[in-house]
Amino acid sequence: MSEPRRTRPKGTQDFVPPDSARLLHVENVFRRLAERCGYQEIVTPTFEHTDVFVKSSGEGSDIVTKEMYSFKDRGERDLTLRPEGTPGVVRAVLENRLRLPCRLYYVGPYFRYCRPQKGRTREFHQVGVEALGEASPLVDAEIIYFGTDFFRSLGISDCTVQVNSIGCRDCRPAYRETLRKSLFDRKERLCADCHVRLERNPLRVFDCKVESCQLAIQDAPAPRQHLCRACELHHEQVLSALSRRGLLYEANDRLVRGLDYYDRTTFEYISASLGAQDSLGGGGRYDYLVEEFGGPATPAVGVAIGLERTLLAAPAVPLPENRHLAFVVWLSEAELRAAEDLADRLRAAGIPAQIDYDSSKVKGQFKSADAARAACCVIIGPDEMSKGVYSLKDLATGEQHEVSSDAVAEAVRALFRD
Ligand code: HAM
Repeated sequence: MSEPRRTRPKGTQDFVPPDSARLLHVENVFRRLAERCGYQEIVTPTFEHTDVFVKSSGEGSDIVTKEMYSFKDRGERDLTLRPEGTPGVVRAVLENRLRLPCRLYYVGPYFRYCRPQKGRTREFHQVGVEALGEASPLVDAEIIYFGTDFFRSLGISDCTVQVNSIGCRDCRPAYRETLRKSLFDRKERLCADCHVRLERNPLRVFDCKVESCQLAIQDAPAPRQHLCRACELHHEQVLSALSRRGLLYEANDRLVRGLDYYDRTTFEYISASLGAQDSLGGGGRYDYLVEEFGGPATPAVGVAIGLERTLLAAPAVPLPENRHLAFVVWLSEAELRAAEDLADRLRAAGIPAQIDYDSSKVKGQFKSADAARAACCVIIGPDEMSKGVYSLKDLATGEQHEVSSDAVAEAVRALFRD
């Protein structure tokens, strides 16, 4: 029998306090901003039928060909841990017959079998929004701006936005053929993976990370130069809406993004501080995906942001010094019941309260209060019991005074300074 493994699997991460509080803080900032724009939270399963991803992310995409955690369950079903959020949201919208248009946001873990490095893990966390049923280019711009607002709220200042358009059903087939021909001429300079991409979907060659491929395609025709008039107009409107908001974007006419469902607008947030894995988030329009899932023709656009990278790029999010916690201290067994009651009463009043039941010594309880970074201790001893009061000790200043039973909740709250 081999030794049981006692370490976390490669490519995963533990968020222990205080980092867990940072992750939660970032998620909550996102929730607040998303709800401010009218998005409502959706929670979908962490695994789906494999087809959900193969048919949407794209059979030729790196995610589908190399990165999915796929398995057969005990009932022989082909399932996959979700590598991204968009396909599951589309599936859920249709399955639950949500009324369109609808604006949804999500927060959760995602899984990709990749080579772990700084900013790239096999389990990671994303937050994202999807606007389904909205066709206006002003929505694309609003979502792009929304992402920058999120990064700004977290103090990330070195984030640039790259924007592109990759055309639609009408103009892309002709462009794809032009690109295929052009890439065939330089086929011998492309890697083996790109040879396959060339057959399946030549646009995927733009995603290739191999330097020689990037050099070989330097002057390959870009999608933006082959847009139909409607796509051109859409793109111009996105860009002018960004300019109206004073958002400085970078045009990147090679930004096709690694997923097959996009049309028209694609965008990505890049941070200079992240090294090789420099994409904080990205998204785009996917006007055909709902239809491909068997739904009605439904324009859609969305974005997803990686939280591990966001935490790496954000200046240390200051944790509140004072944890808004009251520690109830009892001096002897005789006061333990009263201490228990008080903690329940404080909690019922919305005040976080904790007791160290195990330390019968007061010194041990004060140590526990310090370790928990409590703001104050509410002390009950025989004196307090006989007078019907509590002693309230402010742990920041060391000051202590008596408070009546009726006034204790307010007195504790007054010590919760931010
Ligand atoms: P994506 O570009 O594949 O887009 O992922 C979005 C973000 O998730 C990335 O920019 C990155 O921050 C983070 N991310 C991706 N893979 C990893 C990883 N292995 N480790 C750490 N972070 C990672 C999507 O997922 C699309 N669903 C976005 C979208 C929403 N498009 C339309 N709506």
